[in-house]
Amino acid sequence: MRLLVKLGGTLLETAERRTSLGVQLKRLFGEGHEVVVVHGGGKRLSRYLAGLEHESEFIRGLRVTPPEILDAVLRVLAGSVNRQLVADFQASGLQAVGLTGIDAGCVQASQLDPRLGQVGKVERVDPTLLNRLSRDGYLPTVACVAGGDSGAIYNVNADQMAAACAAALGVDRLVFLTDVGGVLDVGGQVIKRLESADARSLIDGKIAIGGMEAKLTAAIDAIRQGIHRVSIVNGHEADILARTLNGTGAGTELRA
Ligand SMILES: Nc1ncnc2c1ncn2[C@@H]1O[C@H](COP(=O)(O)OP(=O)(O)OP(=O)(O)O)[C@@H](O)[C@H]1O
Ligand SMILES: [Mg+2]
Repeated sequence: MRLLVKLGGTLLETAERRTSLGVQLKRLFGEGHEVVVVHGGGKRLSRYLAGLEHESEFIRGLRVTPPEILDAVLRVLAGSVNRQLVADFQASGLQAVGLTGIDAGCVQASQLDPRLGQVGKVERVDPTLLNRLSRDGYLPTVACVAGGDSGAIYNVNADQMAAACAAALGVDRLVFLTDVGGVLDVGGQVIKRLESADARSLIDGKIAIGGMEAKLTAAIDAIRQGIHRVSIVNGHEADILARTLNGTGAGTELRA
């Protein structure tokens, strides 16, 4: 099976969690699965920016990215977060390769909205490099930064980046590992199954807000682009990847 795993930023905060993810991914490789990882790093970036006396503003879950903070975005997401993750994956016996959407032009974006600054909307994904790496047994580990026209660089919401890559790669499953048990309903209970229309209602009804609004929007997009199964599950749970694949895990599943 081919799968795309999106790792949320809070999962990357501790060495213990990164190692657990590495061990789980290594097991999937051992079972013959091909995996591509896309990661965020929002919390780490917020801390770094706070140290520079920049308070991030979010509009519907997307970080306003004025050009002067792009350097920090690259240092944190493509730099420390990506490098540390790759190092921990290597320690788990994976052949991890860290990259961004800029590399080999694999993810090209354009400005999403002038109010958001350098936030990118994915325009196209060229899966050639990612396909080659995964066919050769490497684990592509992609930070959510994309290239654009004339050398532009964009900060892309990691969920949107994951959905766009999943669609271009034609993966069998897209799994979002996050820091909550799944998509929660108005009473705070995990919703087990969702259709795109229900997900849209959760957004319109302001039940899914902020980061979850961004994630559901990306999930709906992935389904629209032909991905049959999208899971939103808690990455802190033990053995969550295997359990999500074999259907014994908790969390939310969107189906086409
Ligand atoms: N209805 C909802 N169900 C579940 N979580 C929700 C809901 N509405 C809002 N949220 C928030 O969405 C958050 C998940 O999105 P968030 O963007 O913070 O994480 P992530 O996407 O996994 O990480 P990153 O953005 O760093 O890649 C939850 O921690 C929760 O606070
Ligand atoms: Mg998020």
